[in-house]
Amino acid sequence: MPAIRPGEPADAAQMARLDAAASPWPWSEAQYLRSCTPVADNRERALLLEADGELQGLVVFAREFDDGSIYNIVVAATARRRGYGLLLLEAAVSALVATGARRCLLEVRKSNTAARRLYAAFGFEVDGLRRNYYPLPAGREDAILMSLDL
Ligand SMILES: CC(C)(COP(=O)(O)OP(=O)(O)OC[C@H]1O[C@@H](n2cnc3c(N)ncnc32)[C@H](O)[C@@H]1OP(=O)(O)O)[C@@H](O)C(=O)NCCC(=O)NCCS
Repeated sequence: MPAIRPGEPADAAQMARLDAAASPWPWSEAQYLRSCTPVADNRERALLLEADGELQGLVVFAREFDDGSIYNIVVAATARRRGYGLLLLEAAVSALVATGARRCLLEVRKSNTAARRLYAAFGFEVDGLRRNYYPLPAGREDAILMSLDL
């Protein structure tokens, strides 16, 4: 059975390794460390999904004014299509609801079909598009903006 728990500073290196193996656009260890460090001016938080004693997924999110945002979500390539992405989203959204957030926002690469379908399966709707938002090895890529009323 998968279990979800808050990320701690000591998890940052393992989170970065999971992401490097799972995503073409991985975050650095320093970025993960920030999401696991509860200091006053940092509203980012991370939740980790562990199954069979191993880190299999993570989500990073933040409260921003009245809204919440999903910053990143990653599931190990060997553990996909088991519903872990939905479990992580549900946990992040529940945590945002508990803080009183009214909406959850996110941006996703236009080419990232798996993530766009995951968000749509959870109930997120497309609000718009930000042209040339993300860098590519050559050129840039549009971001799709999505939101969910909480
Ligand atoms: C996006 C990601 C987190 C999805 O994780 P996951 O655990 O496989 O997702 P789930 O098993 O919870 O999928 C739930 C639903 O989302 C949709 N979905 C997820 N992956 C999909 C894919 N590759 N193709 C089509 N639909 C997909 C389906 O509707 C799926 O339900 P189903 O399996 O019953 O058809 C994973 O593919 C990943 O880590 N990708 C690399 C990192 C990344 O791009 N993160 C997003 C940054 S914005």
